[in-house]
Amino acid sequence: MTETLNPVAAERIFTEAHTAYRFTGEPVSDDELTRVYELAKFTPTAMNSQPLRITFVRTEEARQKLLPLLSEGNRAKAASAPVVAILAADTDFHEHLPHLNPQTAAARDQLAGNVKHREAMARNNAWLQAGAFIMAVRATGLDAGPMAGFDTAGVDEAFFAGTPLRSFLVVNVGHAAPDGTFPRNPRLAFDEAVTLI
Ligand SMILES: Cc1cc2nc3c(=O)[nH]c(=O)nc-3n(C[C@H](O)[C@H](O)[C@H](O)COP(=O)(O)O)c2cc1C
Repeated sequence: MTETLNPVAAERIFTEAHTAYRFTGEPVSDDELTRVYELAKFTPTAMNSQPLRITFVRTEEARQKLLPLLSEGNRAKAASAPVVAILAADTDFHEHLPHLNPQTAAARDQLAGNVKHREAMARNNAWLQAGAFIMAVRATGLDAGPMAGFDTAGVDEAFFAGTPLRSFLVVNVGHAAPDGTFPRNPRLAFDEAVTLI
């Protein structure tokens, strides 16, 4: 495990990849969505808690339910994507801990009594998984357009009523149209973002 990532793969996932805002009509298959998850699921999370839950919106009915809940400027972007993933944090993730992390069996009961800590943990770790989810989409040969501009309470009501799921990000998934990305904005240089001590 000492080899660095193949440069072509590094370009595809990091240096040449762009956020996508408009997509071609090329569909995304169930196999591709499965591959995305099968990569993304290996993201490390605290206590191996894996609180991210993903809802892939593909039918016209589900899409029409989602679009009005997005910020106005985000609607056309999601409308052009063959798939829109709603990413949510499962605030009852602790129920899975006996299976996911049998070494720390007491954690489930400790978290059951600490809602505030549990919700923060769900949110933080689901966000961590969301970053890897975007990279997994790219690694599968697709493009991703993450968007936080939407009515999270409205989405929770429309899609997750009566469940412990709390939405925090939608990600448009598909093949970027030739004019479907914006020019790269600057990234902070090493010295601006990193301290060596
Ligand atoms: C968490 C998150 C939230 C974002 N929210 C929105 C959004 O609501 N609408 C939008 O058009 N772009 C949104 N973006 C896209 C970012 O502006 C874009 O990823 C960033 O500028 C980098 O662009 P690049 O990949 O082309 O370099 C979001 C991206 C992330 C990661």
